Amino acid sequence: LPIQAPDLSECQTSGTSSGNNCCPPYSATIIDYKFTPTGKLRVRRPAHKVDEAYLAKYKKAVELMRALPADDPRSFIQQANVHCAYCDGAYDQVGFPGLELQVHESWLFFPFHRLYLHFHERILGKLIGDDSFALPFWNWDAPDGMILPRIYTDSNSSLYDPLRNPAHQPPELVDMDLDDGDAPTRQKQIERNLSLMYRQMVSNAKTTPLFMGLPYRAGGNLKPGAGSMENSPHSSIHIWVGDPSQPDGEDMGTFYAAGRDPIFYAHHANVDRMWQVWKKLSPRNVDFTDRDWLDTSFLFYDEDARLVRVKVRDCLEPEMLGFTYQEVDIPWIKKRA
Ligand code: C2O
Repeated sequence: LPIQAPDLSECQTSGTSSGNNCCPPYSATIIDYKFTPTGKLRVRRPAHKVDEAYLAKYKKAVELMRALPADDPRSFIQQANVHCAYCDGAYDQVGFPGLELQVHESWLFFPFHRLYLHFHERILGKLIGDDSFALPFWNWDAPDGMILPRIYTDSNSSLYDPLRNPAHQPPELVDMDLDDGDAPTRQKQIERNLSLMYRQMVSNAKTTPLFMGLPYRAGGNLKPGAGSMENSPHSSIHIWVGDPSQPDGEDMGTFYAAGRDPIFYAHHANVDRMWQVWKKLSPRNVDFTDRDWLDTSFLFYDEDARLVRVKVRDCLEPEMLGFTYQEVDIPWIKKRA
């Protein structure tokens, strides 16, 4: 059976491993979410290529989100707490008291984060009155995108987060494999990243569970197994961004705090893009058809602060949610190594 959306009335305010209260505001009214894309698709673009006009809108939207009252489910801190609640022990599985609900290290990884970004993006757009607003994606799989995107580094901007690794500011290159030590040259680091991309998207991703993660059903133990992309570069980049002098690599390096860094959403937009890219690489690369996956549901607050229940089956293609990714080069595709 599918895992059911959590019961917000049972959210554990001090039950998280981090000790944080990341429970959302309570609402007893739940709407089944039926999204019908209307108008133009929101086009997500590479973060290192956005123009000034876009950047001004994006900064304004995050500024307004940060300015919302802390108990508004659309506020920046509540948005970060959505991630905390779904991955730090705040919820038990409905029908299985004491059994933690966790959206990482299983087949829920891609759909949960796609839906989370969908609502986050729509809230940002609503705040600036722009229904075509789209998040940027951190294009770390291409050489030009392999640094922390500069739009996040201005300490006077709403996109800034002080809790990051000071040694990993531009022009430091992303290291997607934290175990292999420093590359001797920039060119070598780029080559290593590209071949890691090839491994995680192709060699280690020949079946759906290998790429997307292992089945996780009602009553099942958390973290049955992550897919290739989740392990790296997804997790390695989280750790690479976070501040190693903080107790848990905050913000990006730890589940409860990762969503407090605006870069989280651009990082996850690229992870989400990889789900789409993978499906286009080979006819073998298809979504699960298992109903337990398709019927898994989550709760989110939408841009009108309504609590909605949404199912995995409703997020299988970006277009179903009204967005798309700008086509960019896939430089790792020939990097078999
Ligand atoms: Cu929910 Cu990148 O982690």
